Amino acid sequence: MATHKVTFLPAEISTDVPTGSLVTEAVKTAGLEISQPCGGQGRCGRCAVMIESGKVRRRSTIRLNSDDLKAGFALACQALIEGDAVISIPDQERIERRLVTEHTARAIELPYAYSPDKLQVIQTFQLTLQPPSLDDSQDDLSRLSDALREFGYDPVDVHLSILQRFGSILRDSDWKPHILLETSRPGAGRARLIAIDSAPFQPFGVALDIGTTTVTAYLVDLMSGKVKASAAEYNGQIARGEDVISRIIYAGKGDGLNELGLLVRETIQDLLEKLQRRSGVSPEEIYKVTVAGNTTMIHLFLRLPPETIRLTPYIPALNQPPCFLARDLDLPIHPLASVDCLPGVASYVGADISAGVLASGLAESDSLTLFIDVGTNGEIVLGTREWMLTCACSAGPAFEGAGVVDGMRATNGAIEEVWVHSETYEPTYRVIGGGKPHGICGSGLISLLSELFVTGVIDRSGSVKLDLDTPRVREGEHGPEYVVAWPNETDTGQDIVLTKVDINNLMRAKAAIYAGYSVLATSVGVDLADVQQVLVGGAFGKYINVENAIKIGLLPDLPWDSFHFLGNTSALGAYMGLLSSESREQIQEIAARMTYMELSADNTFFDAFTAALFLPHTDISRFPSVAEIWEQDGGHSDENK
Ligand code: FES
Repeated sequence: MATHKVTFLPAEISTDVPTGSLVTEAVKTAGLEISQPCGGQGRCGRCAVMIESGKVRRRSTIRLNSDDLKAGFALACQALIEGDAVISIPDQERIERRLVTEHTARAIELPYAYSPDKLQVIQTFQLTLQPPSLDDSQDDLSRLSDALREFGYDPVDVHLSILQRFGSILRDSDWKPHILLETSRPGAGRARLIAIDSAPFQPFGVALDIGTTTVTAYLVDLMSGKVKASAAEYNGQIARGEDVISRIIYAGKGDGLNELGLLVRETIQDLLEKLQRRSGVSPEEIYKVTVAGNTTMIHLFLRLPPETIRLTPYIPALNQPPCFLARDLDLPIHPLASVDCLPGVASYVGADISAGVLASGLAESDSLTLFIDVGTNGEIVLGTREWMLTCACSAGPAFEGAGVVDGMRATNGAIEEVWVHSETYEPTYRVIGGGKPHGICGSGLISLLSELFVTGVIDRSGSVKLDLDTPRVREGEHGPEYVVAWPNETDTGQDIVLTKVDINNLMRAKAAIYAGYSVLATSVGVDLADVQQVLVGGAFGKYINVENAIKIGLLPDLPWDSFHFLGNTSALGAYMGLLSSESREQIQEIAARMTYMELSADNTFFDAFTAALFLPHTDISRFPSVAEIWEQDGGHSDENK
């Protein structure tokens, strides 16, 4: 048999191998190493190499698209040597970057600076007033108002607490006071004087997203639009119920409403302290807060009784809260700061979605777009700039890392991607921050579920196959489970596992979301295959793998380049609304334009949900790319087909 000389770069080591050898075999013969987390099945893409020259037969796999092939990439575990060749083995970091950028889609990430035409919501400037005299006996307020009129602000609201001390400030500043104005407030045409001082102001604002599971805050410099610091915490209310319905029920009992209001305030206070520690900005310098959140979270934040949200005909106390002052809401920031809760659409499609749709760009798009906000409640919008139909489905907090034994938020120590070897069932994983793992975040859970499914560790109904020849599957405290990391590999000294109960929670979450968007599409006579772009918001980690999300049936089976992961769109929309009155008006307009579909009144939702409680779905023909892999592998057991 003919042999060929293969040279590997950058090591410049050559070896001779027989024709038809896999590149991985040549790597081994050369005494080199290449990572093969999926066991050489062509699934993980981590063994990608660059063919510099020579004759190598590359096979197109799901991990390499035509652009990859054109660029010269090949999967070492799939490519065959057919002549002399020079092959580069990129370092692992480069491979990870390539996979992240090319196979996980774009992410909009905070912090970044937003540049609306003009940051006009808050203005600060110094006035120069004529001091009074015996010939000029105008009162202090009229004098201030006349000066503000020259800047185009007439009239200006002034709070009593400012009037009680502004005379001395005018005099202490030698009639050259610095003032801080809120120039535009939703529903109010007048400007408002927030503060007056003899020293200049450096005003900050906070964009707050109150999620059922996670509360996120961004501290923003209101003059530049720059995000100075960010922080996220689990919502303290979680101990009183994991989803909105249990919180509503809790709020209706005894002092439950006040208790829940207090718990979210405590979480916000913790976040403000973190922001202060990270930026050095005192809460007193925060003059504006914009709040996004689902309708129940906004009600609980404002301590409005939420009971009617869950009772037919599902009417909230309000969808468009007026602006409040921080002092009225017991927020520990500047007492006259305005607190602007963004408008929602209905009981189960709240301000988080109005804000998210603005941030996603759906409302400006000509393409048929599916927007999915994956949180405790899965909210979905289907439409274009012409029309938007929306619904909500209760997904539960599994994808936010809650309700899963070793689940956690996407922070340092979270496993964010997993590969399982198809023969040994041994996992390889990537941890945010690179240290020992502490738990698994949403993207890691999606990846793990997908890998366990594709390698046959679990069957299509999500049952763990305990008869496999590996210590990784076992009967645990909570039933059958798969061990992702042994105690000596974790930073807690405890196993990290995925239990059958966790799998059930993840399956229910993905089934609810699939059922939601498929029912929306059916109701307007649209085929999911016609959707041109899918915009995904939510508290996932940065690196959601589209392929894995399709394999478990969470996302529709569309070309990968149709997907864009936008991160926390609710927080992003709140940030835009904080800085720009134009963006704030657009959120209002989006909320008014969306048509809400109530799924609880729709039997087709329940049927669609039940049908989706399989991997990827009871009807695998809805997921042709997954069916193809499944058939290639011959399924993992006939009874699961
Ligand atoms: S794709 Fe080659 S080892 Fe996974």
